Amino acid sequence: MNIKQMVRKNILETPPSGIRKYFDMVNEMEDVISLGIGEPDFETPWTIREEGIYSLERGKTHYSSNAGFIELRREISNYMNNRFGLKYDPKDEILVTVGGSEAIDISIRTFVGPGDEVIVPEPSFVAYKGCVMFAGATPVTVELKAEDRFKLKPEQIVNAITDKTKAIIIGYPNNPTGATMDYDDYKAIVEVLKDKDIIVISDELYAELTYEGKHVSIAQFPEMKDRTIVINGFSKAFAMTGWRIGYACGPADALEQMKKIHQYALMCSPTTAQYAAIEALKNGEPEVRRMVEEYNRRRLVMVDGFRKIGLNCFEPLGAFYVFPDIRVSGLSSDEFCERLLMQERVLMVPGNAFGACGEGFVRATYATSIDNIREALVRMRRFLESL
Ligand SMILES: Cc1ncc(COP(=O)(O)O)c(C=O)c1O
Repeated sequence: MNIKQMVRKNILETPPSGIRKYFDMVNEMEDVISLGIGEPDFETPWTIREEGIYSLERGKTHYSSNAGFIELRREISNYMNNRFGLKYDPKDEILVTVGGSEAIDISIRTFVGPGDEVIVPEPSFVAYKGCVMFAGATPVTVELKAEDRFKLKPEQIVNAITDKTKAIIIGYPNNPTGATMDYDDYKAIVEVLKDKDIIVISDELYAELTYEGKHVSIAQFPEMKDRTIVINGFSKAFAMTGWRIGYACGPADALEQMKKIHQYALMCSPTTAQYAAIEALKNGEPEVRRMVEEYNRRRLVMVDGFRKIGLNCFEPLGAFYVFPDIRVSGLSSDEFCERLLMQERVLMVPGNAFGACGEGFVRATYATSIDNIREALVRMRRFLESL
């Protein structure tokens, strides 16, 4: 049997993440400064780790309820209310998932299938398009523009909507651009979406990593709350990527259906992580503030540094990424990243890994030390001068 021939067409047609190639290359090299990996360089704060360890010591090693421990859902509910003024009932409007990743996947699979279209603004997190394709639906790309500071514009949505449009995935603060959307930006797109039968999947994993003003959720608009699934998690804010825990908030009628996929495919999210997450929400706030302050310091050094070596970049106000324009180099994004890695041992990710319209840009993360950032800038200056 040719087993590959047995694989569903839409799985075969989904390309693997464009980032992987670079990580494979780096594994065989020494002295590389990585500005490539999208995860906090901090370890999970100690009291959070301790709570996970303590739960294991007490033998808390069993399944939780499918939706997650009610105590955790209560903490999530308090957090959403205190931070964003969003009220979700812990009983049936919150689902604890295996990372924001699972929440993205099951919210797409619950609503879309073959014949449906999903609007996916790009550049954006690589999983969105993949999950839409796994569901058998068609991603319809909207190209975000540097001159719009990579914000989503109402006319772009209007132009992308067809009678097949079932959902739109919005991800701010954005990976890879670091762009954010403020109240007025959302107000404009709410005008387009508020009376359409289109589900909004709002990925707010980087909500805590907002450096100017306050994070705005599209669900804060009363017209939108009943048609929006808000996705959040612990990976970025609390430096908990390896714990695999996140959550979805939304109308009970939607979550009840999403919970079926979660129940049959995953059962529940890891219980050790759930105990740790309760501690994170109860007492983790000062540690989050400390990490965000440090990211902010690095953000300013990196943006200033890129500009000084001649790379144009708009000021990213969220997440932990900078997305400089590398077109002055005369190289494509791929050539730029490959040559920079081989010549100067600095790893960045080509912008087109996040959608074709990311061509001409690269993603650099400042989830690394200031010393690494400064050294990377010295090496990049030398690289640009060598061209
Ligand atoms: C925008 C965005 N959403 C979701 C995720 C997934 O995060 P999690 O670790 O919670 O699955 C990531 C991870 O990089 C991300 O960048």
